[in-house]
Amino acid sequence: PRVAIVFGGRNSEHAVSILGAASVLGAIDRAKYDVVPVGIAEDGRWVVVSESQRFAIEDGVLPAVEASGAEVVLRSGAAPLVTLEPGRVPVELGQVDVVFPVMHGPFAEDGTIQGLLEMAGVRYVGSGVLASAVGMDKAYMKLVLAAAGLPVGEYVVVRDRDWRVDRARVLKEIEDLGWPVFVKPSRAGSSQGISKAHDRAELEAAVEEARRHDPKVMVEAAIVGREIECAVLESLDDAPATASVPGEVLVSEGHAFFDFEAKYYPDQMRLEAPADIPVEVAEEVRALAVRAFEALGCEGLSRVDFFYTPDGELILNEINTMPGFTSLSVAPQLWAAAGLPYDALVDRLIQLALR
Ligand code: DAL
Ligand code: MG
Repeated sequence: PRVAIVFGGRNSEHAVSILGAASVLGAIDRAKYDVVPVGIAEDGRWVVVSESQRFAIEDGVLPAVEASGAEVVLRSGAAPLVTLEPGRVPVELGQVDVVFPVMHGPFAEDGTIQGLLEMAGVRYVGSGVLASAVGMDKAYMKLVLAAAGLPVGEYVVVRDRDWRVDRARVLKEIEDLGWPVFVKPSRAGSSQGISKAHDRAELEAAVEEARRHDPKVMVEAAIVGREIECAVLESLDDAPATASVPGEVLVSEGHAFFDFEAKYYPDQMRLEAPADIPVEVAEEVRALAVRAFEALGCEGLSRVDFFYTPDGELILNEINTMPGFTSLSVAPQLWAAAGLPYDALVDRLIQLALR
């Protein structure tokens, strides 16, 4: 089968996506699959990428899609959905059997590319339109998870209009959560635009920072607890989705939380897998992770993130429908610890999409 690995994208996780694509390109079985690397440049152009372009962080400089290759045509019936610039050689994406969108964030993990691929009739790895959209938007994610009876923390959603014209009421609601709070863009990823606020002045600055990413802002009560993450994978037969071993994220000192640098720069975090937690807590994490996957109607792979509090409570922080996907990222490491190595995980995800 022909597999298009699509990466980059028009959002702030562009570089993170390229790191993941590099791992997938390195691990995919080329004897079994005909691989087409397709990059989406920062300006939105789709191009066939040379595998000799830079895929790694070098001297702290993040990689970007180099948009010099042939542009891609995504065709639905006779009409192209993505058109090409004059003079460039088109690659018909419709000829591929499956797309693996190794992408995160808006226009990537939020149902939009999934919708485009549905329209074009191309199969793809991972969750569909609704699960992707719900998973991307922390406000709707929490509504769905809470409605499914899953333990989510306390939060306040700050909508654009509320912040501009009804700020006093919003600030009062947030103060009722207690300090400190985490302030996040509702739709973003890799901790971008996130800060921790300890008082009203910090809060106002933090909301403005989050609003640079998204006019809708999520404010969460900070939860003291260990960060436990668990990955969920759909089954190839009709069996229910299964959970990996849970792992614990240990961030090195100097980070106020599991921020962008801790996530992607070398030696800033350590994953302990399996996590050193009581057996019954690990089982509870795994069961809750599968329930979250099912509550959103996820497909393929997801990673579910928890806090385990000192008094033994589990709080579900979030689900990621296209979790960080380098071979050293948390979800692949959790599956490796559970006995499924990275290349087999890549193969499983493609096989799930091809079913
Ligand atoms: N948004 C990043 C890639 C993650 O959830 O791992
Ligand atoms: Mg996330």
